[in-house]
Amino acid sequence: MKQILFSLIIIFTLFSCQQKTKVSSEQINPIWSETFPGVWKSEVNKPEDFNLLTAANKAPRAETLNNKSAQEFPISTDEIKAFTKNGKTYLRFPLEKEEQIYGFGLNFKTVQQRGRIMRLHMDHYGGKDDGKSHAPVPFYVSSKGYGVLINAARYIDVYVGTGVRADTKNPPTVYDRNARDGWTAQPYSDNLEILIPADGVELVLFSGETMLDVVQRFNLYCGGGVLPPKWGLGFWQRTPTLYDTGDIQTEVNGFVENNFPLDVVGLEPGWHSKSYPCTFEWDKTRYPNPAQFAKNMDKQGVKLNLWMNPYIWPEGKLYDDIKPYAGSHTVWNGIVPDYTIPESRKIMQEHMLKHQLDMGVSGYKMDEVDGFDRWLWPDVATFPSGIDAEQMRQTYGTQMMSLTDEIYREKNERTYGLIRAANAGSVSYPYVIYNDYYNHRDFITALINSGNSGVLWTPEVRASRSSEEWMRRMQTTCFSPMAMLNAWADGTKPWTFKDVYKQCQDVAFLRMQMLPYLYSTFADYYFNGTPPFRGMNLEAGFETSLKTEQGELDGTKNPYAEALKREVKDQYMMGEFMLVAPLFNMDAGRKVILPKGNWYDFYTGKYVGNGEIIQVEDGFEQIPLFIKDGGIIPMMPAIRQTSEWKENTPLEVRVYGKANGKFVLYDDDGKTFDFEKGKYTTKLLKAENNKGSVEDIHQSDSWIYGEVNWKFMTE
Ligand code: GAL
Repeated sequence: MKQILFSLIIIFTLFSCQQKTKVSSEQINPIWSETFPGVWKSEVNKPEDFNLLTAANKAPRAETLNNKSAQEFPISTDEIKAFTKNGKTYLRFPLEKEEQIYGFGLNFKTVQQRGRIMRLHMDHYGGKDDGKSHAPVPFYVSSKGYGVLINAARYIDVYVGTGVRADTKNPPTVYDRNARDGWTAQPYSDNLEILIPADGVELVLFSGETMLDVVQRFNLYCGGGVLPPKWGLGFWQRTPTLYDTGDIQTEVNGFVENNFPLDVVGLEPGWHSKSYPCTFEWDKTRYPNPAQFAKNMDKQGVKLNLWMNPYIWPEGKLYDDIKPYAGSHTVWNGIVPDYTIPESRKIMQEHMLKHQLDMGVSGYKMDEVDGFDRWLWPDVATFPSGIDAEQMRQTYGTQMMSLTDEIYREKNERTYGLIRAANAGSVSYPYVIYNDYYNHRDFITALINSGNSGVLWTPEVRASRSSEEWMRRMQTTCFSPMAMLNAWADGTKPWTFKDVYKQCQDVAFLRMQMLPYLYSTFADYYFNGTPPFRGMNLEAGFETSLKTEQGELDGTKNPYAEALKREVKDQYMMGEFMLVAPLFNMDAGRKVILPKGNWYDFYTGKYVGNGEIIQVEDGFEQIPLFIKDGGIIPMMPAIRQTSEWKENTPLEVRVYGKANGKFVLYDDDGKTFDFEKGKYTTKLLKAENNKGSVEDIHQSDSWIYGEVNWKFMTE
């Protein structure tokens, strides 16, 4: 009897399990609706109201997107699968054999993501590309010409071609390990699977002519890129923590005496009367009259940027006012404001306006918004708005960007600053990511990945072990979205390493000369979503047409190992025409992979190669720069500060190679948002048969340039 009962229980359990399995494997093919040409949206089950894009609160750039070319849906919809179960959403996208995947945020070691597993989690970067990052952006772009955004403010697990399903249509070959005949621990997988800890999700799929076009559409969908104020593109010096007004003046004098560019001085924690958490009040001993101090700096062509972390010191009016809107947990004894609530946002905005912006502060460096588990609010924390701790963590940086952006917009003044946490949706916020990790090579890989993920990144300079390292780092920061020395801890100056001072000075002035090119490059980011700094994968035809030492790159032979071996993560594009190939400490030269087409040396105009790997010897002096055939680089005299970028600035337009070329040169007032209402000027610089011409495209009264001198660099 007992046995019969036991068997019955087993049969019943098996039956109910089967029932459950049946339910759990029930998949749907998400339904996609086209919102703009080449942009489709889908809702799986019931997406949460709060997501990455609602936190960012920026509208897509509809007009530009509507002018984009029509696209076919890039994948067979039958092959995209989704289902929700036990409060989680499961997603599956197909991968083809030679398909490569880029993106998934600010990674520091890898550019190609196929074959990797990550939990996209806002965090300090801990030395591994495991998804913990200052920008864990759930967006990827495929070499097949499409991209996907998983719009959820959640810790998202991604298996990028790692899991092999039992029902796969492309099963990997079975190998016997005993026979030692090709067995591998990670056999071929034909899918990209994603797990979202939420009962539904919004997906956005982008298709384009090229991978770059896909990223552009993604950027435009998130609001379009950033156009920094002109001063933001000058040189930045961040000063030691406890500097006072006298020290800062001495620092600024040093830049004059040593003739080194300087547009922005960054004040670190000591400007607050107390820090970690912050009072947001000026320290009266170090800064007795901040308004006067800011005015003095402004007269010397120097803007002020203020460091902060968002946690509020547990005394004072700001604390009392914000306390009702703070989360359940503290960080370093400071409260954590819930800025999704309009009241708390307003209190902080009014405070910043009165005590900082109206005194002439140009922007902020918003630190510690990425968190680190041991000191940040834990995931069990609660917030008065009902947004949970995980959602807060994934978006706190975005919220801070939006809070400050709003007040600068109200003043019609552009800001440009630093942030340590960004996510999908923060594309159009004028903030550049930085961190403490300080690995030069990995900083360049991060710069490449920033372009795949809609964020900006600076490879900032701090202390160095040698003059060479110092010089190389100075070179790369000058070829990035923000040229900055961060001396908060070590008090270094650009002239600290005297034997390489001349080289550092040269590269900083070269950046200043290139500002017409760089500013137009950022305008292209704003108008068209083109990432100003980007990896070679976004250069059309780069991978498929590439001849390497091992022959043509053929991804079909091996799905990812082949391509991974040749992952290009130490050279990048700045704007349309310039390839930057940094040298690192102790290099005796380096290899540079040139995409198809003729390429020329920036400095000499000489031909260097076409679709091949070249070796550049280390001349110790300059950062290797190469220009595409027909490339046009508009340059101006080597000014020290952008305040000298004035009416009638003469232009030297350099032209490289033999092909005809075009470049859209952009200008506006450099500081307000009037350009968004059409107050800007664009002109087409054209080089044809060794002759240059200038045509008007969009006219307004903001045009700073005078005489145009054409310089054909290639004989
Ligand atoms: C760090 C930050 C540094 C510097 C420092 C000041 O968190 O990454 O750049 O600002 O704080 O205490």
